[in-house]
Amino acid sequence: MSQPLTHLVNWSHQLLSEVLSPGDYAVDLTSGNGYDTLMLAQRVGPSGRVLAFDLQSRAIESSADLLREKGIAINLLERPIPFLPVGVTLAQANHVDFHVWNTHEPRAIIANLGYCPGGDKEIVTQPETTLAALRTGCDLLASGGRIAVVIYPGHPGGRSEADAVDQFFIGLDESQFEVLRLQVVSRPQSPFLLTAAKFN
Ligand SMILES: C[S@@+](CC[C@H](N)C(=O)[O-])C[C@H]1O[C@@H](n2cnc3c(N)ncnc32)[C@H](O)[C@@H]1O
Repeated sequence: MSQPLTHLVNWSHQLLSEVLSPGDYAVDLTSGNGYDTLMLAQRVGPSGRVLAFDLQSRAIESSADLLREKGIAINLLERPIPFLPVGVTLAQANHVDFHVWNTHEPRAIIANLGYCPGGDKEIVTQPETTLAALRTGCDLLASGGRIAVVIYPGHPGGRSEADAVDQFFIGLDESQFEVLRLQVVSRPQSPFLLTAAKFN
């Protein structure tokens, strides 16, 4: 059965799935309840690696529960280690430190911005740290890889983050990246999806 056209998370999963194969390495900058992390883990399989960040212990626990339920091997870390093991590494850490944690070339990076549904709505992604993590992501991304960001302008502070992320993607070097913007146009303050593909 087809999913609603406006479910942008589905599009982000599809666009990243297209570049992921078993054994690859992928990163989730905002693990939340773990749905994006699970998608990445299923695409890279048991021989692949996923690194997933979240600041909130509650989000890390929720992601861990979902992954365990699906039979996926997880490692829980609060500090970076020299070489990421296979399986999913859940890092209770700020994604601003992505460059410190990273040990491989990611084929796919996902970020679902804003606050965690069912979690602490005060803990919300912030333009400065989001941009720092996206800059790192675009630098580290493998050739042929993709980075996808779902942005929600509707919550307090969401509009300024949305504008900053939009400008960041618009400013990417066109000789290195092609950028797609998908937006729900039928709703005010509608969320949108930005996806950048790094040329081979
Ligand atoms: C919209 S939720 C993510 C949803 C998630 N991807 C999923 O599939 O359920 C955003 C998450 O970003 C986390 N977050 C906010 N700022 C962060 C930061 N600087 N570093 C890491 N995680 C952060 C929040 O704690 C929250 O859980």
